[in-house]
Amino acid sequence: MRFIFISLFAICVCIEKQTVLASDATSSGKSEKFVGHKHARRKLDDIGGDISIDCGVPAGFMYLDEKTQLSYKSDEEFIRTGVNKNISSKFMSANLQNTYATVRSFPEGNRNCYSLRPPEGKAKTYLTRASFMYGDYDDEDKLPEFDLYIGVNRWDSIKFDNASHVVIKEIIHSALMDEINVCLLNTGKGTPFISALELRHFHNATYRTQSGALVLYRRLDVGSTTTQIIRFKDDHYDRIWVPYPGFPGSASINTSFIIDSLVDSQYRLPSAVMKTAVKPMNVNDSLDFDFEIGDPTLQFYVYMHFAELESRQGNQYREFSIELNGNLWEKSVVPEYLQSKTISSTQPARGSKLNFSLCKTSNSTLPPILNAIEIYILTDTLQEPTDQDDVNAIMDIKLSYDVGKGWQGDPCSPMYYSWDGLNCSYNGYKPPKIISLNLTSEGLTGKISPSLSNLKSLENLDLSNNSLTGSIPEFLSQLPLLRVLNLDGNKLSGSVPTSLVARSQNGSLLLSIGRNPDLCLSAPCKKEKRNSVMPVVAASVSLLVILIALLVFWTYKRKRGSLKSDNQQFTYSEIVDITNNFHRILGKGGFGTVYHGYLADGSEVAIKMLSASSSQGPKQFRTEAQLLMRVHHRNLASLVGYCNDGGNVGLVYEYMAYGNLKQYLFDETKEALSWKDRLQIAVDAAQGLEYLHHGCKPPIIHRDVKTANILLNEKMQAKLADFGFSKIFPAESESHISTSIVGTVGYLDPEYYASNRLTEKSDVYSFGIVLLELITGLPAIIRGYNNTHIVNRVCPFLERGDVRSIVDPRLEANFDTNSVWKVAETAMECVPSISFQRPTMSHVVTELKKCLEMETAREQIQRTKSQMLSLSSSVDISAVEVETEMGPEAR
Ligand SMILES: *[C@@H]1O[C@H](CO)[C@@H](O)[C@H](O)[C@H]1NC(C)=O
Ligand SMILES: *[C@@H]1O[C@H](CO)[C@@H](O)[C@H](O)[C@H]1NC(C)=O
Ligand SMILES: *[C@@H]1O[C@H](CO)[C@@H](O)[C@H](O)[C@H]1NC(C)=O
Ligand SMILES: *[C@@H]1O[C@H](CO)[C@@H](O)[C@H](O)[C@H]1NC(C)=O
Ligand SMILES: *[C@@H]1O[C@H](CO)[C@@H](O)[C@H](O)[C@H]1NC(C)=O
Ligand SMILES: *[C@@H]1O[C@H](CO)[C@@H](O)[C@H](O)[C@H]1NC(C)=O
Ligand SMILES: *[C@@H]1O[C@H](CO)[C@@H](O)[C@H](O)[C@H]1NC(C)=O
Ligand SMILES: *[C@@H]1O[C@H](CO)[C@@H](O)[C@H](O)[C@H]1NC(C)=O
Ligand SMILES: *[C@@H]1O[C@H](CO)[C@@H](O)[C@H](O)[C@H]1NC(C)=O
Repeated sequence: MRFIFISLFAICVCIEKQTVLASDATSSGKSEKFVGHKHARRKLDDIGGDISIDCGVPAGFMYLDEKTQLSYKSDEEFIRTGVNKNISSKFMSANLQNTYATVRSFPEGNRNCYSLRPPEGKAKTYLTRASFMYGDYDDEDKLPEFDLYIGVNRWDSIKFDNASHVVIKEIIHSALMDEINVCLLNTGKGTPFISALELRHFHNATYRTQSGALVLYRRLDVGSTTTQIIRFKDDHYDRIWVPYPGFPGSASINTSFIIDSLVDSQYRLPSAVMKTAVKPMNVNDSLDFDFEIGDPTLQFYVYMHFAELESRQGNQYREFSIELNGNLWEKSVVPEYLQSKTISSTQPARGSKLNFSLCKTSNSTLPPILNAIEIYILTDTLQEPTDQDDVNAIMDIKLSYDVGKGWQGDPCSPMYYSWDGLNCSYNGYKPPKIISLNLTSEGLTGKISPSLSNLKSLENLDLSNNSLTGSIPEFLSQLPLLRVLNLDGNKLSGSVPTSLVARSQNGSLLLSIGRNPDLCLSAPCKKEKRNSVMPVVAASVSLLVILIALLVFWTYKRKRGSLKSDNQQFTYSEIVDITNNFHRILGKGGFGTVYHGYLADGSEVAIKMLSASSSQGPKQFRTEAQLLMRVHHRNLASLVGYCNDGGNVGLVYEYMAYGNLKQYLFDETKEALSWKDRLQIAVDAAQGLEYLHHGCKPPIIHRDVKTANILLNEKMQAKLADFGFSKIFPAESESHISTSIVGTVGYLDPEYYASNRLTEKSDVYSFGIVLLELITGLPAIIRGYNNTHIVNRVCPFLERGDVRSIVDPRLEANFDTNSVWKVAETAMECVPSISFQRPTMSHVVTELKKCLEMETAREQIQRTKSQMLSLSSSVDISAVEVETEMGPEAR
């Protein structure tokens, strides 16, 4: 049987990992999980104190799984939220592993976390494995999708092909803290659940990386002659080895002896895995195989395991080298008889393909062999956990008031999934801080907790409608940023600290202390009733849908500036003439209306009249206008002139006959743009943007890249327009500038939105969205249920290796799949939420040009083919789509 590889052409954040069928996984024969096991109460440290949790079994329950010989226990001590569920009896079967019979489901809360405290503590290497099988446990017959996090870092997305599909995710990581959090995030696509959670502790010298964690991609028992998965007890560490018989052109070899019977390597490889291997059929051949990854941005760590299985006669000698993607990876491997040896990467490997070639050295008499291979994807652990002082303080508050049942994992991270009742500030890569805390009506009793004084960034504190007693502590006035303090409706007594009263009086604090019968404003006490409504303004951002349109008006003062440039200056009455009294409107934007006009020489122009309001000074207007007028590039809409006359300000652009790309793309009445046209437009627009970023000194950030701002002339040449929002870097040395946020919903860089840090990478993000629109023919925000963002729409398809389903149906399969893939990949490279992961526009231009070449080549071949067909109808030329190879293949 050949192991089936799934969706290797996966891209970006969405990558399918190793999945195993439930019935294939080791199973325990009878499903007798709930039958009392007398002998089941074995020591739980069968594998070195590791943790094996069968999620969803009744609290206190513990059993030994007979087939795996693993002791599972219930999850009660690891999590406080969620409900236990049994899977539907339809999916129960004799060979289903016990752990899948029950699940814990999380209908409440956006984020639910297991917290594991392995006895070995932090700074050790762990393998964490989460398993999922839906089994219609909620009788809804609806497959959910959700995200899996380890600590504050994204691990993977969980998706299912069907209700009996078992999804297993593994990650090898070094624990930074004593507590390891595994979190399930509700992404609005169904209720998260989990079937089992396991933690294994590894020798600290194994699976080491410079940084980041390793997500399992493949772990293969090469040369296996059975279909049996190998794990505990064969594997001391309980790694799951998937049988892989071999590559075409290779032969399987085996030994009946035990490998490593005398001495274990640190990897403690199971003898059952190591005692089979493959070698090339011909002694002089190399052993070649590759893995088609698809996403060139991913980084891999590879571990190859070898043991000599054939006892060598006389002068027989086995030595070989390993090449990875054409580079020498290991000069010399000499496997030792019946002893394991592991060759691993010291640096991560990259490439859209992992191309291995094991080649015997010149004086070797025997061919190369391979016993087992593991491949991991390096995941960055970039997101910072919440500020440690804030964490300590909020944990104290949680404990002392016994609040926050759903308060699990990190308080603020990941972004947008902070604990209920608190809001955080996210400042680039600095640790998030708690800025508001709302514990209204939580039944708090006792005094106001001194730990609150450690929340140094707190701006907003609401403790209203509880039963807090004692006096109002002085320390609240020491919180430097506190702007709103609501203590209404408690049982506080004594006098209000004068420092608080003072801050309230000078307007720096909105203080509410009403409905506290025993409280008085100042000593000596007299009753004071005070109640104020708290206007709370806090920013809540939804990553998926940003609903608020942000507009900034490019404004100016009435005073006429003296613009000196080559551009023509027009008076208002000339503009009236040119536009035939503003007769034909071409479009309306956030800061003005665009009119059509004819210049005296008959050339057509588009004139944007800016709406007048004034906050920006004339000087600023002048600098920006002057700079923009100096920008000349064939892919930038050029400014013909301007008008600045008696409060009427207008910009005169060259006229673009086919209007903007947005209109064109979504206009059903127009003939659909061909794939090649789209590519040409993408290349043009990208070049315009590249010029702004890298060709202009100082660089210019457009800030409003979108299909509506890409104009098409009569030759279908695209030009970037509308520099109204553009920002010029003050100095080249600056890596970013902080500015108020402008841009358009759907195109707005989430990092810029969250941090106000503007770099040219914000334009790259927006351009990625434009590319996705060109591929799909869908707008950036797809209206309808939940207003899906285009990235979220395409990601699941790309992940499955399915690009055809997202391509604009109007293209009618008239395109080169590889070229579409490449554009999709490029687009996805542009849209990570972290800006420095995005490429430069120069890179994007290069990639897009390659795509255009591919498509041009395809068109030529098509033309040649049809010519040949018309020449000879007897020639059978079938246009076979070249499928991307799925598994490792011999070449
Ligand atoms: C699951 O099934 C067991 C045994 O059939 C039963 O005792 C238990 O109550 C069920 N649990 C739930 C949550 O339905
Ligand atoms: C469920 O999905 C798995 C994984 O894709 C597949 O191998 C299996 O055949 C499917 N089972 C059914 C019953 O469709
Ligand atoms: C691994 O652990 C041992 C003992 O706990 C320690 O002495 C050693 O320094 C550790 N090695 C590494 C590479 O962390
Ligand atoms: C081991 O290899 C021999 C041939 O060399 C084959 O006959 C035998 O079936 C193999 N044994 C196993 C367990 O695969
Ligand atoms: C392998 O190469 C050696 C030396 O070039 C040659 O003598 C031998 O016949 C070759 N064996 C096979 C099976 O091709
Ligand atoms: C993989 O190796 C084969 C043969 O050695 C070579 O033709 C091919 O170009 C290589 N591919 C990559 C991506 O390195
Ligand atoms: C040839 O084999 C010998 C061992 O028999 C080894 O020491 C030597 O390095 C090998 N030479 C080459 C060129 O591989
Ligand atoms: C706190 O939460 C309650 C409801 O949960 C809400 O009515 C109140 O406005 C919130 N207070 C603040 C300051 O956000
Ligand atoms: C957090 O922000 C959201 C959205 O602005 C707001 O509704 C909520 O009241 C805030 N919570 C607190 C505790 O201020």
